Amino acid sequence: AEIANYEAKRRTAERIAKEVKDGQVIGAGSGSTSFVALTTLAERAQREGFRFSAIPTSHEVAMACVALGIPTLRPMDAVPDWYFDGADEADPAGNLIKGRGGAMYQEKLILRSSPKTFILVDRSKLVERLGTRFPVPVEVHPMSVRLVEAELLSLGATEIRIRTGSGKDGPVITENGNMIFDVRFASIGAGLEKDIKSITGVLESGLFWGYGVEIVTP
Ligand code: A5P
Repeated sequence: AEIANYEAKRRTAERIAKEVKDGQVIGAGSGSTSFVALTTLAERAQREGFRFSAIPTSHEVAMACVALGIPTLRPMDAVPDWYFDGADEADPAGNLIKGRGGAMYQEKLILRSSPKTFILVDRSKLVERLGTRFPVPVEVHPMSVRLVEAELLSLGATEIRIRTGSGKDGPVITENGNMIFDVRFASIGAGLEKDIKSITGVLESGLFWGYGVEIVTP
């Protein structure tokens, strides 16, 4: 299953590898699918003798860029020519849940900065309705956890869990020094993303609604 999974990611990556051109700046998403895509792009550039730079969305991807010899830029340095990333769920309209990896703020920042986004997913990520399998991750400033919890409940949250694990005791802390709430809602629709974002103490959520991304499957 592992190998089949890798092959599927590789096939998806090949579909976008042809998009890269010499000198481009490419936003690089996080997660295992993005890692395979980044490797595939780097291999193609190496083979054909051109260079591109990447704006990484997490420490994980930044380190992968170092290992692959891809120069990196910060979001403030350049606007990406295009962006690729994975997702945890995608609905038929191209709305997404992201943030299993905890990098949804940087991911949304780069996606919003980029004129074109490819979302690479296998068929297991395609759902009729968002929230089928994954909760919505919400990045919360530690000072505001109590307020944010109350406000999320009033927005219809049915379950709120503070994310823990990843080799440390207590809450997972994002690259921005915040905590993550994994939040289930009875239903997820247009407007919820903005409602969550408007709570004082919320940096971002992993709900990506109506961004016109191109979904790419194997
Ligand atoms: C990272 O924060 C997430 O949004 C990832 O894009 C998502 O979890 C996809 O990861 P995989 O490609 O490993 O499934």
